[in-house]
Amino acid sequence: MSIIYDSTNRLFILENERIEYAFFIDGQNYLRHLYFGKKISPFSFSTSIDLGWDWSKTYLTPKDEEKVYADSYSSSTSMMEAPSNGRFDHRGSLISIKEEDGSYLTDFIYKSHRIYDGLPKLEKLPFATLNNGKASSVELILEDVLSHAELALTFSIIDGYDVIIRTSRIINNTKKDISIKRMYSLALDLPSSEYDLIHFPGDWSLERNVSRNRLTQERVVIESEYGTSSHMENPFNVLIEHQGNEDYGEAFGFNFLWSGNFRFEVNVDKLHSTRALLGINDSNFDYLLKEGEEVELPQGIIAYSNEGLNGLSNVLGDFIRDHIIRFSKAKEYRPLIFNSWEGCYFDFTTESILEYMNKAKEIGSELFVLDDGWFGERNQDDRGLGDWFVNLSKIDLKKAIDHCHSLGMKFGLWFEPEMVNPLSKFYKENPHCSIGHTEINRELSRHQLFLDLTNPDVVDNVAFQVNAILDEYEIDYVKWDHNRHIADNFSYYLSKENQGQVNYQMLIGFYSLCKKIIDTHPNIFFEGCASGGGRFDLGVAYFFPQIWCSDETDPVQRLYIQYGTSMGYPLSMIGSHVSKNQITSYKTKSDIAFFGTYGYEFNPTKLNEEEKKELLENLELYHSLHKDVILNGDLYRIYSPFDSNYFSQIAVSKDKREAAFIFANLRKENNSYRFVKLKGLDAKKRYVNSLDNKVYYGDYYMNVGLNLTGWINEFTSVMVVLKEEQEQMKGKEK
Ligand code: DGJ
Repeated sequence: MSIIYDSTNRLFILENERIEYAFFIDGQNYLRHLYFGKKISPFSFSTSIDLGWDWSKTYLTPKDEEKVYADSYSSSTSMMEAPSNGRFDHRGSLISIKEEDGSYLTDFIYKSHRIYDGLPKLEKLPFATLNNGKASSVELILEDVLSHAELALTFSIIDGYDVIIRTSRIINNTKKDISIKRMYSLALDLPSSEYDLIHFPGDWSLERNVSRNRLTQERVVIESEYGTSSHMENPFNVLIEHQGNEDYGEAFGFNFLWSGNFRFEVNVDKLHSTRALLGINDSNFDYLLKEGEEVELPQGIIAYSNEGLNGLSNVLGDFIRDHIIRFSKAKEYRPLIFNSWEGCYFDFTTESILEYMNKAKEIGSELFVLDDGWFGERNQDDRGLGDWFVNLSKIDLKKAIDHCHSLGMKFGLWFEPEMVNPLSKFYKENPHCSIGHTEINRELSRHQLFLDLTNPDVVDNVAFQVNAILDEYEIDYVKWDHNRHIADNFSYYLSKENQGQVNYQMLIGFYSLCKKIIDTHPNIFFEGCASGGGRFDLGVAYFFPQIWCSDETDPVQRLYIQYGTSMGYPLSMIGSHVSKNQITSYKTKSDIAFFGTYGYEFNPTKLNEEEKKELLENLELYHSLHKDVILNGDLYRIYSPFDSNYFSQIAVSKDKREAAFIFANLRKENNSYRFVKLKGLDAKKRYVNSLDNKVYYGDYYMNVGLNLTGWINEFTSVMVVLKEEQEQMKGKEK
């Protein structure tokens, strides 16, 4: 049983084979957190921490009677599932509601609960879907003591996945309107501050650097106010025990299914306890919830591993692949992509594209993507967005697609559906189609504005245009781009009372647009993109199994970006291409891109024979390993480029019969010993490696290591494939 309710202690235990999450309803009817971590059998109930802070242990009733809180409750120290706002708990609140009388005091207490099999579904927002195994959920109805608004808070657990899912709705059945000032999705209290925070700051073409800092008594805020999850931070954040590393220690990974403004707060108080909170950023946020209405909050997840960061990544990788990404064919072999962008940008003709296709085919491409520039008057980036009709004077799209298919390649097309250029027919015909206040200067970014997706007519119009192209032409893949942040948060569509929810409604509009386009084309593979990796999150992953990870395609920069991204997201999501960049050989470029979804992006007519040969070397490996090892396997990071001269990882198939290992270096190193200890193999299996073609036990590779002793020039890489001995023999017999 995965949710146990002990009615004597009003204790809830969510457990699977490896983890346990426990909370109880105390004498005040508060939801008090007890434990999240490794499974304990049996779990012993105790009323949490009693630090004896008497001055926060009594209260005055409305009748002026002083009473003592039950169950050792202490408002300043107890661990809470739904921490109050504006009261004695100063560690950060979950929800803040402004009352009719102006009060912000918000405090939720238990009313009822129900336990059921399965996972909750959301109507407007992305949510985890049970695609295999068994899940259990407990929905608790809590009531705010002053406003009487309700919070329906559901905790869910899936057998085999070390993740707790929190789903919330605020329901206004108070017979008056309420104003929600904050509605966070996650809260976790930990009775220790011995943690390091890992977050992923960055910029355009410099996404997801790994930043690790020890917590002290402080409040740390990691956030985005860019309207999207952004290049600058990511909603995925980690708390790891201070001594922990890639392979050792307790680690908690926080994320949520949301692609807009977010805030992750970590607060270590004077008593050295840690509170982590994650939710929609409440800056400029004010959600007017009318009488009788309810609002969905983004679904939050907390993953747990006691096997360090590699353990955490694999917990998350399994969960995301199996229960977040919905595309039914996401686990199948993905055709090798050739993308036109970095080869020719906007500068192409039908003939040049046909020639690109011929050459792309020669290096093994299986899907040709025509990127930006095929529609409207789009020959440069200041025009065309919004006009989703083919520019027939520039490209004969039907001819190009037919040619592509005749070569045996699939065909993909680029769109940027959420945007509009002022220099477009669409904008001229619909001047209020974008957000922003027309009485002040509106921020242009890449010469474009953000469509007002709070307006369902705008959403319908764009969906209609994009669907018309997808229905008319034989398109197998779409790259869905998004090249500016949301700014100038003002909508002429929303009423003045609702301007505080522009960002929320923009995201609802985005998800609705996705449903209208993606759900009506279930066989098309959609890849997400946002000026590279500016919207790399679980809200996007729900619709897009693969996301372009960065516009930086120089492999030496890429290895940092891919390393950081892999901490919270599976390799199957990380869009990575071999580009024309000059710094390294095609071999190194290809090896690094291999540890992602892989593809090509350069002018294929300019490749020399040597470069082609280098690419073809990895082509065979792509065919044989990509699906089971990279897309669906486990990943173990070995050396981090952030604190060593190397980038090294190994991806291992789930059955542990095959693995791909990469070792790339930054600076040159003279002759030196270099034994790299592999990870994740089966100690008892015998593997042949492609480096010296010898056979060793997994135990040997993991303890003695792979011998990479010698001289290495700067920016080189070694990719080694390991196959279980029998597998290798089978291959030879074929
Ligand atoms: C930004 C993307 O990240 C690029 O890959 C490319 O598609 C351009 N946009 C096209 O405008």
